[in-house]
Amino acid sequence: MDAHTERAVADVSAFVEAVTETRKYLAKVSDPDRIDAAESELLGRKSLLVLARRQLGNLPSDIRKQAGRRVNEARDRLQQAVDEARSRVKAELRVQSYETDRLDLTERLISQRQRRGSLHLITQARDHLEDIFVGMGFTVAEGPEVESAWYNYEALNIPEWHPARGSFDTLFVDLGEPEEVMLRSHNSPVQIRTMEACEPPIYIVAPGRAFRRDTADATHLPTFNQIEGLVVDHDITMADLAGTVDEFVKAFFGREVDCRLRPSHFPFTEPSAEFDVSRPDGSWLELGGCGMVHPDVLRNCEVDPEVWQGFAFGFGIDRLVAIRYQLEDIRELANSDVRFLRQFQHPVREVLL
Ligand code: PHE
Repeated sequence: MDAHTERAVADVSAFVEAVTETRKYLAKVSDPDRIDAAESELLGRKSLLVLARRQLGNLPSDIRKQAGRRVNEARDRLQQAVDEARSRVKAELRVQSYETDRLDLTERLISQRQRRGSLHLITQARDHLEDIFVGMGFTVAEGPEVESAWYNYEALNIPEWHPARGSFDTLFVDLGEPEEVMLRSHNSPVQIRTMEACEPPIYIVAPGRAFRRDTADATHLPTFNQIEGLVVDHDITMADLAGTVDEFVKAFFGREVDCRLRPSHFPFTEPSAEFDVSRPDGSWLELGGCGMVHPDVLRNCEVDPEVWQGFAFGFGIDRLVAIRYQLEDIRELANSDVRFLRQFQHPVREVLL
């Protein structure tokens, strides 16, 4: 065997041996870049394969064919080993990413559980208002949201012909006689229901929803929340009313809010007043109405106005909230946008969990 042939045989063998070694290496490798490097080293443009093939020409024809087959078989084995290594590493990486994703999910689940729901601002305000009035000796009363004309109007001194009915933008319910059944347009019907059910002295507040055929704007909602108050006792005067609402405003807002009573008119109170509170920019916002319970309303409930006197008020809870939290637009309270609501998170009461 001449030196050329020896050299050629050595190069062919070097390739075949390198393939054997590299296959062992590839079986353990787990970095895709190393697979690429091994592939190009053995099979690429300036690789041992190219060299071995070139040397085939230097072999005598009797062993060339066999050597050629060895080279090709070795190349196929290596290619197979490369492909296997690639799919193994790909599967390993996929399993790894499942692990990472699963960790991620677990984290999200935990943080979701920590982010409990909370009471809506209106509910928080309602609870706060109830606490304030209960602290002043009132009890909390309730009434239905669907009312009859008697409770929503007639007993409150607003007969059918009275122009005040028009100003209420009533939402009627298609039940009974026309215009007999309606969504209550204010919480004042609870005054009547309470006086019918209880003997004076009466000290109640009635928070809850009221409804009017109104278009929503920055200061109005068609479904809104009111807190109605009613006091019936001996020797009750307008001064008791003024002192009570003043005390309540200070308890709700702190001391820095001013309030004022403006003469007004309601069929169910005499005298009547509109009640305003000051906003941070110095302007006034109307919170609702109040006044001394009209003797006819007392009589409608079989309370003797010669013996008992009373005052009543009805304030908008949504507006109280708007002032307290400086909301530009009261519609935020009805939008159910969690990004807005989360700003006012308040722990849920234990009983609701
Ligand atoms: N019910 C009146 C309203 O909703 C408010 C009010 C209540 C006025 C009690 C006087 C007394 O407009």
